[in-house]
Amino acid sequence: MKVGLLGGGVIGGGWAARFLLNGHDAILYDPDPETPRKVEEMLENARRAYSRLTYAPLPPEGTLTFAATPEEAADGAGFIQESTPERIELKRELLGAASRVAPADVVIASSTSGLLPSVLREGMTHPERLTVGHPFNPVYLLPLVELCGSPDPVERASAFYRSVGMYPLVVRQEIDGFIADRLLEALWREALWLVNDGVATVEEVDDAIRFGPGLRWSSMGTFLLYRIAGGEAGMRHFMAQFGPALQWPWTKLTDVPELSEELLAKLEQQSDAQAGGRSVRELERERDDALVAVLHALRGNCVGAGETLADYEWTLLERAAYPVEADKLRWETSVLPEWVDYNGHATESSYLLMASHAADELLGSIGIDAKYLRQGGSYYTVETHICHLDEAKAGDRLEVTTQVLGADEKRIHIFVRIMRGETLLATTEQMLLHVDTNAGRATPAPPDVLERVQELVDAHSALPWPERAGRRIGLPSGTPT
Ligand SMILES: NC(=O)c1ccc[n+]([C@@H]2O[C@H](COP(=O)([O-])OP(=O)(O)OC[C@H]3O[C@@H](n4cnc5c(N)ncnc54)[C@H](O)[C@@H]3O)[C@@H](O)[C@H]2O)c1
Repeated sequence: MKVGLLGGGVIGGGWAARFLLNGHDAILYDPDPETPRKVEEMLENARRAYSRLTYAPLPPEGTLTFAATPEEAADGAGFIQESTPERIELKRELLGAASRVAPADVVIASSTSGLLPSVLREGMTHPERLTVGHPFNPVYLLPLVELCGSPDPVERASAFYRSVGMYPLVVRQEIDGFIADRLLEALWREALWLVNDGVATVEEVDDAIRFGPGLRWSSMGTFLLYRIAGGEAGMRHFMAQFGPALQWPWTKLTDVPELSEELLAKLEQQSDAQAGGRSVRELERERDDALVAVLHALRGNCVGAGETLADYEWTLLERAAYPVEADKLRWETSVLPEWVDYNGHATESSYLLMASHAADELLGSIGIDAKYLRQGGSYYTVETHICHLDEAKAGDRLEVTTQVLGADEKRIHIFVRIMRGETLLATTEQMLLHVDTNAGRATPAPPDVLERVQELVDAHSALPWPERAGRRIGLPSGTPT
């Protein structure tokens, strides 16, 4: 699908990255001549983050083009996302222009942090198709998107957002600031007061979050956490203990410190010191790496955004263009920093990871897709032999190719080469066994799968037998050890 984007700043650039990496084309209107450079830099960081986020097969990346007018961005788009500055008149003008070009059934979403849909709709044709689609930075990694609007566009936008790995949360009534920003603004006001009053620096305020409550917020929200904090007696006890304190004047929720030059300069100086010379792109990469690690941990524990990631990966598997052709059993990757150990080169386990990914690609090529896996069929690796021949450093581009050496009704014998340019870094030899995962035992593969396995065996039968295939571990003398 082609997505029309209005505004390509922090949020619009993040949307562009999410849509493109999920295989959609995007056409973006932003009058700032610097936008193409900024969006390309963000996209590069997003590609880096996705290469770590999942090994599920992402679709081929969509194409990004730039429009000269909002009408051009809306023309032919199947979905429109507006992410321009938070100014009512500006947003109304752009949404109105897009709505006059886009057919009535095209949903138009606004990234607004808190403006009401009823306010934004004024001046649009078919205004009922406008919904708020409020994302969180970085848009390409954080799943949450808040929706607020009429049921039909909200439902259709939710389905679209879900298909690109997001978690739509419907805000059931129009309310300024929606849900998340009301909470975030309360925190933000307090943070500004603490700095304004000289109680804490910006870094100390941030430390108070990241070393404590921030860690627990990714898996459980405030209510569930406070239930636990109430001990065995639960929520009612917690409220009895801490409820009365809400009457005390701890917080200044309705006041805002005056944004005086003095406060602004203080914020700027302390923030510069905190960033310690790191550019915004470097900070984005640090943030993204930590977020990917948190998402993986949450996926491992089947909670919150980790569940959304797991569902998304199943969707990617389901959509993958399988079976691939036999001559495409080839996969490219970069050596990720986390694969490198204290020696400065990739660890043994990373070669196993690459080999298992190569095996996944092979399974895709013989029709072991998401449906097949869900029905309880799969191939498991039952034996692997790795030969290490050279070293790989972080960032090296590697090519991983698979050769099928032989097969029978239960087994596939494969040989994998891991190359950097012309240099052979490692080989793996694996035996894959067809299993009935429901019964928990090996079974012959069904005829249609066996047919595709045989096609691969035939296609690879003319290739030379690999020098290292069939090696066993032992001393050169041949003495068994
Ligand atoms: N930054 C956040 O964390 C965040 C989070 C969620 C939602 N939002 C919302 O997203 C929207 C965009 O915020 P942002 O942070 O990306 O701001 P931004 O300043 O980074 O980007 C705004 C972009 O809009 C462009 N623009 C200005 N006039 C335009 C016009 N007439 N037509 C098209 N583009 C125009 C600017 O050149 C800029 O690139 C706002 O509604 C904001 O409330 C922001």
